[in-house]
Amino acid sequence: MFTDDLLKGKRILITGGGTGIGRAMAERFLQLGAIVFICGRRAEVVQKTAQELSASTGGTIEGFPCDVRYPEDVEPLIEQLWAKGPLDVLVNNAAGNFLARTEELSPHAFDAVISIVLKGTINMTLACGRRWLATKRPGVVLNIATTYADTGSAFVVPSAVAKAGVVALMRSLAVEWGGRGIRFVAIAPGAIRTEGAFSRLLPTPELEKALLDHNPLHRFGTLEEIANLGAFLISDQAGYINGEMVYMDGGEMLAGSSSFSMIGRRLPDSAWQMMNPKRTKTE
Ligand code: HXC
Ligand code: NAP
Repeated sequence: MFTDDLLKGKRILITGGGTGIGRAMAERFLQLGAIVFICGRRAEVVQKTAQELSASTGGTIEGFPCDVRYPEDVEPLIEQLWAKGPLDVLVNNAAGNFLARTEELSPHAFDAVISIVLKGTINMTLACGRRWLATKRPGVVLNIATTYADTGSAFVVPSAVAKAGVVALMRSLAVEWGGRGIRFVAIAPGAIRTEGAFSRLLPTPELEKALLDHNPLHRFGTLEEIANLGAFLISDQAGYINGEMVYMDGGEMLAGSSSFSMIGRRLPDSAWQMMNPKRTKTE
């Protein structure tokens, strides 16, 4: 759908790029001429993905271990990348999430998700943003949010809180930094089959079916669809889109708020016990 040089020469960092949606975007951006960097906590995962995508696309990609929660991890990575040339695009894609009843969550459980999703996005955005501003270079930040970022959602509350913060950050900085050449966009995806998301949020065929029944298009989104949407939004062709979140959910939100609010209310107590790692360890 695009000319092969849509992203030619653009240097792009994708957090959580070793798996799932991040990996699919890395592959597509490479096909469109970008130079791609991916990071994640597991060095072996990002390095294997980088090797595979380099071989399959012939493009330039490198993988780095980096935990987005910690500025002391983020700063050296960004410094290392900038030493070879400034980034043009940052994709905040790394996330953590699980389905749980909120009253059963420990403080650590809340913190685990908020630290990855919200603090990680803040750490990365500031590390890149400060460098773009200091050198008067343009930049683009794409945030992968969720459909429930604007509405909240039962049973994924740490994620809902964190993603709402990500969207607030994006909209705020779109105004504060827009005039200085930094553009912000976001995607709110509906369900797209990835191991990371489906193992934690849709672990049974019954839950998948409930979601498909609820969705007006009765299917999940695809990795190709989100990778192409991401490619467009970060490209110069989307240069006047700033501070906007694009829903890519088959109309799910229009059919009634968050799927997890709907799914969670159908689950019996026994299912919740199965999904809580603390309980399964002790019982
Ligand atoms: C209740 C849970 C829990 C669960 C973990 N915890 N899972 N509590 N129910 N299902 C609690 C633990 O008991 C612990 O608290 C605390 O959370 C931290 O858990 P750890 O395993 O020590 O944390 P960590 O190793 O940092 O792992 C973070 C994680 C994990 C978020 C818990 O799931 C992860 O690494 N996720 C990364 C990938 C991911 O989540 N991908 C899906 C993104 S999909 P205590 O008090 O016991 O120490 C997405 C949108 C999907 O975001 C929308 C689909 C439509
Ligand atoms: P995924 O494969 O689990 O991706 C999450 C990635 O984040 C992993 O590669 C993980 O790698 C990385 N990550 C987690 N914590 C990190 C940290 N502290 N530092 C650096 N990297 C970290 O799941 P996905 O489905 O592709 O999700 C990608 C994005 O899409 C997320 O923002 C998610 O919220 C969003 N989303 C997904 C769906 C869906 O249906 N799939 C729907 C809506 C929104 P490590 O574990 O190696 O760190």
